[in-house]
Amino acid sequence: MRIFIGLDFGIRQKEAIRGVQDNLRKVAEGRFTRTDNIHLTLNFLGEVDESRLKEVFAAVDEAASLTGPFSLRLGKLGYFPSGRKKIIWMGIGENSELQNLYNGLSDILEKIGFKKEERPYSPHLTLAREAKIVRPLAEVDMSPLIGNDSQEVSEITIFESTSRNGILEYLPLHSAKLL
Ligand code: 2AM
Repeated sequence: MRIFIGLDFGIRQKEAIRGVQDNLRKVAEGRFTRTDNIHLTLNFLGEVDESRLKEVFAAVDEAASLTGPFSLRLGKLGYFPSGRKKIIWMGIGENSELQNLYNGLSDILEKIGFKKEERPYSPHLTLAREAKIVRPLAEVDMSPLIGNDSQEVSEITIFESTSRNGILEYLPLHSAKLL
């Protein structure tokens, strides 16, 4: 199964992000992420045998017990090149607690055999894939975020990435409270 560890967002924040996506459609074309699927990835583990899930759950519980709850702020739009197309994302404001959580999780996962990412952590919410940007992202009206750009983080979740009837879904398998 294909799994990753991430943070879920509240309905208010997801609706605000959807509002930004609607405005983004005026400057870019692409495959837009469904509102339900909006999340922040901490660690992508990829294909993992189901027999290892308990071990991964325990690693996530351990990492969660080392970090207390914190809040993060939704930030600016940006993109990654992806072949000739682009991946458009919403960034997360500089956040040492998020970085510490990521570092702790990566250390604990490394102990059970998951290699660390070589690239620095670049927290982002993917808003659109296979995108073509036709006008500057700076033109996107970000006002839906006003008053909705802060997210309390009190747990981390292991998601399975799966496709049902051709529709990509992220199923929560296990959550661990930040203590
Ligand atoms: P993305 O949004 O930047 O593509 C489920 O696919 C989640 O895991 C997404 O948040 C996705 O990030 C991330 N993901 C998928 N493949 C990945 C990879 N090879 N390395 C890091 N993250 C990946």
